[in-house]
Amino acid sequence: MQKLKIRGGKPLVGEVITSGAKNAALPLLAATLLTDEPVVFQNIPDLADVKTMLKLLEQLGCQVERGDHEVRIQASHLTSTQATYDLVKTMRASILVLCPLVARFGHAMVSLPGGCSIGARPVDQHIKGLKALGANIELDHGYVSAKCDRLRGCRIVTDMVTVTGTENLLMAAVLSEGTTIIENAAREPEVVDLANCLISMGANIVGAGTTQITVQGVEKLHGTTYRVMSDRIEAGSFLVAAVATGGDVLVKDCDPNTFGAVIEKLIETGAHIEVGEDWVRAKAQGKPKAVSIRTAPYPAFPTDMQAQFMALNAIASGVSHVTETIFENRFMHVPELQRLGASITIDGHTAVVCGVDQLSGAPLMATDLRASAALVIAALVADGESTVDRIYHLDRGYEKMEEKLRALGGDIVRIKAE
Ligand code: UD1
Repeated sequence: MQKLKIRGGKPLVGEVITSGAKNAALPLLAATLLTDEPVVFQNIPDLADVKTMLKLLEQLGCQVERGDHEVRIQASHLTSTQATYDLVKTMRASILVLCPLVARFGHAMVSLPGGCSIGARPVDQHIKGLKALGANIELDHGYVSAKCDRLRGCRIVTDMVTVTGTENLLMAAVLSEGTTIIENAAREPEVVDLANCLISMGANIVGAGTTQITVQGVEKLHGTTYRVMSDRIEAGSFLVAAVATGGDVLVKDCDPNTFGAVIEKLIETGAHIEVGEDWVRAKAQGKPKAVSIRTAPYPAFPTDMQAQFMALNAIASGVSHVTETIFENRFMHVPELQRLGASITIDGHTAVVCGVDQLSGAPLMATDLRASAALVIAALVADGESTVDRIYHLDRGYEKMEEKLRALGGDIVRIKAE
């Protein structure tokens, strides 16, 4: 196990390049199961979750050739349509192989992911939609087992906005017979990225990025070469780190159109924010002002940026309210921030944060992916030394974060935990 040792107090200054988006890469990799032809992805981030998805595809019999931020996958001779508990338990997004397998091969058995640290996170909507498309589904020994001849298009209304649910059903619909309409669809940019890739494979999809996606099923999809979109959460995290540390950072190779709500909030902190076509620069103007946020599905403020803004608010001037509406247990970073001296009280789904003058370094424990980023940001601000343990959470979704931070002047090293 590894941890990060961080000595805080240095403003981050310089340029950083955004990696490909984890949350786009995972469904895109699963989409390779929809064709027997090779699919090449560029701008693939080098992350633990991506490795897990590639391992899963290899277990199913896909040929995987890895290059530098590039991967070629061919699902022409599958040996299995079963995703076992071993892999699914380490990454919930493994459920994304369910619909492509059923749509192309007529059967799949995928372990139910179960809960995770940030909440229950059921997959009932994925199952409900697949059933509506005509699959016969049984839940047995912790597995979803789905069978069908050919899926038939239909109208699906999800009970809530679900990102991977929309993506899974989209991948089922592209090979279904007839028309599928997904209502209450997630509008996240990663859904649009998946739809664009599927279209480049020959799918017929209209409305991705809106709440209603219409798919005209086709018999077969073909191979493609596709560039994964940039990671809006990584870009946002570096901008927050810049403002929190009193720095000046230019985040390059990002798409500002995909994180408008985050940019708005950064502007509210009083920092000087400049936005270009594929870059954003954040220059702190003294102490940031506290900003209240409320998470909600895209285009509202993303839950994946909530923890990082909490870290920023911890040292901002004023009081802020941070309300989490997507996941019921996503305040686990609060006790850790309190260890650094943050003043935060939780009232139901809202955390009330009173900005303090300074945080002081302490040993910390990462609890989930985005919480780890928040702890790193807080430790970069805090006086003295902090350590962040269990950084395997961070490695799931941030590519070489400590190297990128070091290049910006952050005093941060990876060390072996005892
Ligand atoms: C995705 C993202 C994750 C982000 C989240 C919300 C990926 C790989 N992960 O997760 O980073 O935090 O969107 O933006 O893209 N729900 C159900 N039943 C379902 C599906 C979801 O009750 O069948 C609930 C969840 O418990 C949660 C809410 O709906 O409360 C939204 O979850 P969802 O959008 O599905 O999150 P993920 O796709 O798992």
